[in-house]
Formats: sequence, C-alpha cells, structure tokens
Amino acid sequence: MQKVGIDTASFYTSHYYLDLKTLAQARGIDVDKFYIGMGQRKMAVTPPDEDIISMAANAAHYATVDTDLNNIDYLLFATETGVDQSKAAGIFLYKLLKLPASCRIIEIKQACYSATCGLQLALNYLKLNPTKKVLLIASDVASYGLNTSGESSQGAGAVAMVLSANPRLLVIENESGIHTEDAMDFWRPNYRDYPIVDGKFSCNLYLKVLKECWRKYNQLSRRNLADHDYFCYHTPLPKLAEKAHQKLLHVNGLKKTLPEEMEQQMGNALKYNRIIGNCYTASLYLSLISLLENTKEDCSHHRIGFYSYGSGCVGEFFSGVVQPTYREVLPTEHHQFLLARRTELSEQEYETFYQFELPTDGSSLKLPKHRTGLYRFAEINQHKRIYEKVHNK
Ligand code: HMG
Repeated sequence: MQKVGIDTASFYTSHYYLDLKTLAQARGIDVDKFYIGMGQRKMAVTPPDEDIISMAANAAHYATVDTDLNNIDYLLFATETGVDQSKAAGIFLYKLLKLPASCRIIEIKQACYSATCGLQLALNYLKLNPTKKVLLIASDVASYGLNTSGESSQGAGAVAMVLSANPRLLVIENESGIHTEDAMDFWRPNYRDYPIVDGKFSCNLYLKVLKECWRKYNQLSRRNLADHDYFCYHTPLPKLAEKAHQKLLHVNGLKKTLPEEMEQQMGNALKYNRIIGNCYTASLYLSLISLLENTKEDCSHHRIGFYSYGSGCVGEFFSGVVQPTYREVLPTEHHQFLLARRTELSEQEYETFYQFELPTDGSSLKLPKHRTGLYRFAEINQHKRIYEKVHNK
C-alpha cells in the first residue's frame, strides 16, 4: 500500500500579540480565568496589512522551500474567514508563490474541520498519483468582537503543508472515525462580521463528538489508546484540548490525569497554541508542529492521534506515524525566531487594529506598513486586493 501524508509543514502568525493579562485588566476580569481557567496566555492580533492570504503566503513560502512547485497539482485553501464569496483565496497565491498554471486551486469550508477534509481528499488523490504533490493551507483570523465572551479565545495564523507519497514528516494511516451532526453551536451568517456562538454548548458538543469519533476509529483500526504516543486536538482554547484528553482517558477506562502529568502529556502539543490563540482551521496542525518542535525526545516512528473538530459540526479522529526525517523538514528555527520577536500591543493598539476597516465603496487605499513576513496585503483598489513581496526581508 502506497504511504502518503505530510511531507513538510510550516506555520505563520502575526508579528503582534495581546497578552491576556492586558485584556483581563481592560475588561475587569481576573487574569487567572484566562491563564488558568482557559490555559491561554497570549493571542495573535493582525495589523491592517495582514490577512488570511498574506499569512498563507508566508506559511507556504517556508513549507515549499525544497519542493518542486511544478509537481503541485492542487492548492487546497481551508478557511472559514474567507475574503471573497466567489474567488478562492488560494488564487492570490498562484502569482505570489509562482505556482504552475496546471495547478487546480479551490477554497474549502466546514468551520475548523475543513483542513482535515482537505487532507483526506488529497491523500486519496496522492495514492493514485504518487509523483504529484498537494499544497494544503489552513489560514484564519478568529474574532468574536470586542467585549464579547469569546474575545479571549481569538487568535490568527496559517499552517501550510506539502502532502505527498513517501512523506518525510508524517505518514497518515488509513482508518478514521468520523461523526457529523447538524448543530448550531457556532456559525456566521453571510451578513455578519462575527460568528454567533453558544459557548458552553460548543464545548460540550466538541467533547461529545470526540467520544463518537474515537469509538468509530477504535472499532475500525483496532488500536487502543496505548498504541498512541502523543495526541493533538483542535485547540480553540488549550483548556478544552486538556479536557478532551481527559475525556479520551475516561472513555478508555483510565484514571484522570493530574495537572503536573497533564503538562507532561500535553504541554508540548499546546505550547504554540497557548501564545497564538485559536486559528480555527490551522489550530490542529499548529498543535502538530508545536508537539514535534518542542518534544526533546526523538519522535521518529511514534504514533500521534489527532482529533479534528469543526462546529456545525463534523469531527474526525485519525492517526499518523512520525517519520525519521521530520526534524530536517521542519523550519523550527524560523518558527521560534518569529514567535520570539513579536511585538506586544497595548489595549489601545489592539482596539485600533481591531477596528480598522477597509473601504467598501471601491475607493483605493494603500495600507500602512506594519511588521509582517515576506508577503503583505498592500492595497485595495476598486474592490481588488493587492499583495506584495516585502523586498527588504
Ligand atoms: P466564558 O463564559 O467566558 O468562561 O466562556 P467560563 O466562565 O466558562 O470560564 C472559563 C473557565 O475558566 C471555567 O473553567 C472557569 O471555571 C474558569 P471550566 O469550568 O470550563 O473548567 N475560571 C477560572 N479559573 C481560575 N481562576 C479564575 C477563574 N474564573 C473562571 N478566577 C468560552 C469560555 C470558551 C465558552 C468562550 O470563550 C467562548 O464562547 N469561546 C468561543 C467558542 C469556543 O471556543 N468554543 C470551543 C468549542 S467549539 C470549537 O472548537 C469550534 C471553533 O473553533 C470554531 C469552528 O469550528 O469554526 C470555536
């Protein structure tokens, strides 16, 4: 059977963040609610010249460094915060990344689940076309509005992955446990800038769907919990990923993990998520990169269990085996440099970025230059978004 999976992966996030202690102070909330109750320390905040497309381009640049772009047959762009109702966000990357004209490009959506759907669709294609590659990008800006109960669970980021046969990073195994329901836990009608969310219901549904997905995965694969060395969960807030881990132990008849054991079991997989925040579709794959880059021991040949969840809702539990070349293909130094050099925002600066609005009347606006990666959102002109490469990088 042809082995397929993730060949390379890179993430990108905004160069700006808000420490949740600043938010707690501004909103009159005890900071421990955010730091301890939600397990979240910081959240990424995008400046006006950064969006899902510039973040995607910056992530894809590093993910494709040693990939022959001519072999990329598909670019699948997973997002739930798209910028156009017709044109796929990935089309903007065609020019920026110099992709071949033979590449099919589409945008896919099902809340935070769509990147996983993209992954599974692509892997089936690669089994039939093992010399080809697929570029899968998940990119989102999670925002709930100022002064809302979801405000502390915002964030922004993109993960780009090259998928291939005989991958160098992670082989994805065949068995998946999938569970779908028609539920209204989180949704965003076309006329709204921010989602409507039933916070508590969404958390409970996320946990209930995990149980169903695990049951089906376990039945199909015959693998038990002990057959997995690590776990990565969709992470809207790190505390929920920890609760998911407890749930999985519980449904398998194991005793609850103590807080210090939890840090040992989940700390590496949550390290980046704790300081970036929710980035919707990208969040599960950010957790994968976090796990592999922060685990000191050699993860080669170890199995990871993944839980993907998208409100609305679709969940999937699947697994992958880490390949011995994984450290060679992860741009760890670049990621850690990016995170270490971010600029902290004051409450005022956060609100100013947040309230920035693009013209909607067709007029032109050159966007002020902020700190970004290699690519930035430069201008809007007659309703057209224009991106540019930052030359002094
Ligand atoms: P909230 O009402 O602000 O917070 O909502 P809370 O009152 O539930 O408190 C949070 C936790 O902090 C609680 O712990 C408190 O006890 C604790 P828990 O009971 O859950 O274990 N706490 C404290 N701890 C220490 N010291 C203190 C203190 N005070 C309180 N002083 C909520 C939180 C997550 C619901 C909200 O932020 C929200 O609605 N977020 C958006 C929705 C969301 O993230 N849902 C997650 C599941 S759905 C999902 O994952 C899909 C999604 O990614 C979207 C998609 O698929 O596209 C969201």
